[in-house]
Amino acid sequence: MTDKRFPKGFYWGTATASFQIEGATKEDGRGESIWDRFCATPGKIITGETGDPATDSYHRFMDDIALMKEMGLNAYRFSIAWPRILPDGDGSVCEKGLDYYDRVVDGLLDAGVRPFVTLYHWDLPQALQEKGGWANRATLDAYVHYSDIVVKRLGDRVKNWMTHNEPWCVSILSNEIGEHAPGNHDRKLALQIAHNLLVSHGMVVPVIRQRCPDGEVGIVLNLTPSYPATDSETDQALARQAHARSNLWFLDPVTGRGYPQDAWEGYGADVPQIRPGDMQTIAAPIDFLGINFYTRSVVHDPKGGEGSRVLNIRSETNQTGRNWEIYPQAMYDLLVSIRMGYNFKNIYLTENGASYHDMVSPDGKVHDGIRIDYLHKHFSVLLRAIESGVPVRGYFYWSLMDNFEWAFGTSSRFGVAYTDFDTQKRTLKDSGVWYGKVARGNTLLD
Ligand code: GCO
Repeated sequence: MTDKRFPKGFYWGTATASFQIEGATKEDGRGESIWDRFCATPGKIITGETGDPATDSYHRFMDDIALMKEMGLNAYRFSIAWPRILPDGDGSVCEKGLDYYDRVVDGLLDAGVRPFVTLYHWDLPQALQEKGGWANRATLDAYVHYSDIVVKRLGDRVKNWMTHNEPWCVSILSNEIGEHAPGNHDRKLALQIAHNLLVSHGMVVPVIRQRCPDGEVGIVLNLTPSYPATDSETDQALARQAHARSNLWFLDPVTGRGYPQDAWEGYGADVPQIRPGDMQTIAAPIDFLGINFYTRSVVHDPKGGEGSRVLNIRSETNQTGRNWEIYPQAMYDLLVSIRMGYNFKNIYLTENGASYHDMVSPDGKVHDGIRIDYLHKHFSVLLRAIESGVPVRGYFYWSLMDNFEWAFGTSSRFGVAYTDFDTQKRTLKDSGVWYGKVARGNTLLD
């Protein structure tokens, strides 16, 4: 019989991101971010919403912490808004921004919740975008400056640092597919940005180590395993290509292997320019890998996968409210393949979760048994992966409460707590209550 207990000291948390929760986009000196600009552009957000008020966590972060306490969670992953710290991206520091994160960190520690901080979760200061954004090497220096300020201020209390969240989304989804800010459609630009992001990751690692010598540092990648729809040669080749483009393209350079050769050749003239020393910088040793896992992609000729999250084949019954296929086995396959192929000492599941069309019932509760089922299935495979030796140290559900889900606005609900966007009242869903029991007992419930 399988022991349903998780390893001692396992971290149970939820994850959020600054732009998705804070609101108060014009308060206390915060500068404009590319997401403010993107939201203000008609047609970009399906609900027409902006990042204000989102879940108003700039003012209500103690309510958020109260939810974590109620559930008995011991960790929380959140991100810092660069434009709150350096409103113009570089230059002068806004103390009020730093003060805000001081309060968040202190509130978490008082509640017994360990802060895991992401330095960049997509809200680039617009002032930097005007000068080319991540395509401009000067942005990399600004990012180092910004990170230095943040880690210097919080590093006495925050010990778990993540440089970037999902560089695939920041580059390809935002600059080739154009679905996220700044909304470009240019593969060459996107690949240069992907490279520059990885270089900036490597540049920041030693800065974090210097400012926080007893801390740990890693990067968060969204990894989407690809499976061929049939046994045909073409489908298999497409699956390999999708895997190389969306996963290996990031994993391999970070671990010192350079870009995957087949994918490099496949990109032809669109490949990025690499400066001498870049690949060594990118390969700075890290302490952990953060994995965001949601679904797999199934690829099929003639349309192919191209690394997009869009599934080519869907099982009608087994999908979330966003039409993402529920396929927990892919999480197991992914974790085991990473253990076999790389040498990470520590892995965190930094995001995993499901969006559903949740509603408050007449009894005032949110009966999302379907999300409990999702969690149960993923915790089962997570346990199996840990038992087979994958060093997973923590799990962060995306997300704490329903929030501003990028291009979907507040129409896509991922939370284990329900947000009433009119009153900003948060209510734990049935899944939140259930998740709390798992976390407190450190054991998977039946
Ligand atoms: C991402 C981001 C989150 C999303 C979540 C649900 O993975 O896209 O890190 O900000 O909100 O993944 O789409």
